[in-house]
Amino acid sequence: MNLDTNQINHIRKKVLSNKVSCIKVGMATCGIAAGAQEIYDFLIEAVKKSKVDVEVRKCGCIGACYIEPIVEVKIQGLKPVTYSKVDIEAIKKIFEKHVLGKKVVTDYLIDEEGSSKQVRRVLRNCGIIDPESIDDYIGSDGYQGLIKALKSKPEDIIETLKISGLRGRGGGGFPTWMKWNFAKNISAEEKYIICNGDEGDPGAYMDRSILEGDPHAVLEGMVIGGYAIGARKGFLYIRAEYPLAVERIQKAIEQAHDYGLLGDNILDKGFNFDLEVRLGAGAFVCGEETALIASIEGKRGYPRPRPPYPSVKGLWDKPTVINNVETLANIPAIFDKGGKWFASLGSPQSKGTKVFALTGKVKRSGLIEVPMGITLQEVVFDIGGGVLNDKKIKAVQTGGPSGGVIPAQFLDTPLDYESLQNLGSIMGSGGMIVMDEDDCMVDIAKFYMRFCVDESCGKCAPCRIGTYQMLEYLKKISRGQATEDDIEKLQDICVAVQKAALCGLGQTAPNPTLSTLKYFNQEYLEHVKDRKCRAGKCARLLTYHIIPKTCKKCGACFHVCPVKAISGNKNEGYIIDNNKCIRCGKCYDTCRFNAIERK
Ligand SMILES: Cc1cc2nc3c(=O)[nH]c(=O)nc-3n(C[C@H](O)[C@H](O)[C@H](O)COP(=O)(O)O)c2cc1C
Repeated sequence: MNLDTNQINHIRKKVLSNKVSCIKVGMATCGIAAGAQEIYDFLIEAVKKSKVDVEVRKCGCIGACYIEPIVEVKIQGLKPVTYSKVDIEAIKKIFEKHVLGKKVVTDYLIDEEGSSKQVRRVLRNCGIIDPESIDDYIGSDGYQGLIKALKSKPEDIIETLKISGLRGRGGGGFPTWMKWNFAKNISAEEKYIICNGDEGDPGAYMDRSILEGDPHAVLEGMVIGGYAIGARKGFLYIRAEYPLAVERIQKAIEQAHDYGLLGDNILDKGFNFDLEVRLGAGAFVCGEETALIASIEGKRGYPRPRPPYPSVKGLWDKPTVINNVETLANIPAIFDKGGKWFASLGSPQSKGTKVFALTGKVKRSGLIEVPMGITLQEVVFDIGGGVLNDKKIKAVQTGGPSGGVIPAQFLDTPLDYESLQNLGSIMGSGGMIVMDEDDCMVDIAKFYMRFCVDESCGKCAPCRIGTYQMLEYLKKISRGQATEDDIEKLQDICVAVQKAALCGLGQTAPNPTLSTLKYFNQEYLEHVKDRKCRAGKCARLLTYHIIPKTCKKCGACFHVCPVKAISGNKNEGYIIDNNKCIRCGKCYDTCRFNAIERK
């Protein structure tokens, strides 16, 4: 059934006037992992048994992943209430008292702190609508952007996008209008638009959450993009480790087909466009656009030199626009509300909002959406609630393996593309990891470098050999076996790989190391000169000692030591010979009386 504009608007009005009481359960991957399925199943049964007139619905993640499962109860005549950390006991109580008895249960009320500095544009529907219902999406202004865009000429669409100032959210920050304009201006039989849902950075899950919580927004963005550049076909490349995202996108594609929002003669405007999902097998390099294209073509996911850029010569050598999930999810509202509306938030060069996955040593971890230009300080303390256990903040890592570490003295840095780049990091796709004094900067650099070694596709020598060599130096430093000369050599390789690697993976792999070398050079020197790791993370640099006053002479440490570095007996007590000790930490982990200190 091909719907026209009037029919879409009719559905919208119907959804808006639907005043049924409902209970929504956060059913994104984070909610399900925390036990939301059990809560949902209980509610379905409970509503059936009690015959109460309440709908039980699924929704995506509202961002507060640290307090899942989250349940919203909306009963006619009462204010909507959101509960957090809901387990089976809690939901029984909430159902009994709130749903049936109409009395709010105060024990599980959500902590709303940290939400005032957020602006939800991309995540506006996540955790609000049922991602598996196209009507729900239409009811919250879904497909209004498409209706308006299909009334305009492609060049007007590009103009609106230019006014909006939208830049790619996949890491590079390239102006979206320019990419679309290149592809639009080339005449070709076939053109393509691709949604990059590979999301391979450790710690990042923004795109997964958008795909799971608001799949139609991404589809709508792609249809608008297809119309603007003159494509009839698009692909969503999503990593196979995101099964729920894939399932919901596929459902959304079917529903859009049923309503004629995909397929032939969309909205009766003579425009034909279709979408297909392709699964990625979880290689980080396949997020790089040329490798991604090779992967869709059925070839090995190897990157190739650019130019030619995909917008000129992309999938099957045809002009191809590749955009990130979050970039595409921004598109519908830009066409519904206008380019100026979008540009009204943000900083001069970076407009709109950005979604971040705020993780690490932060009290309120989860997905946040903030206006560009907000400071790191505001994000970590006002939104994130500060550092876990009130420890001292040491640094914030942004941009994952391609990004860098920003030390605490720069917390007043505004979050925009240029400011982060000036500090030697990048915005990246939105991973943000908070670190405290217990994090060792050599260890952090080593972690990201190991990731790059594992993920390097091996096609170019600078990346294949360079990342391996950089990791070897970092290992040597963390073992206390390096010299100051080695630090210099490490730095030289970093600079060489940045310049010589074929693709972004190798070119940016040195960033975490270079930024830690720049801001935490003293820590590197301590590892090298004093053989000390102040954070106590580099196992080979630690020494273990038994505290005689605390030791209960139980002998547990003596028995677990694999190299017999502990001598003594139950009468006289025990002592560790640090010359024999291999720093495995087994004695430290085994002691029940905290009688072993690690320095
Ligand atoms: C190693 C590597 C991995 C990447 N992974 C992703 C990814 O998972 N998702 C993404 O959108 N972009 C990723 N990119 C960036 C893409 O190549 C491309 O620039 C982006 O999809 C363009 O979309 P945008 O303009 O909307 O940001 C990656 C780049 C590199 C070098």
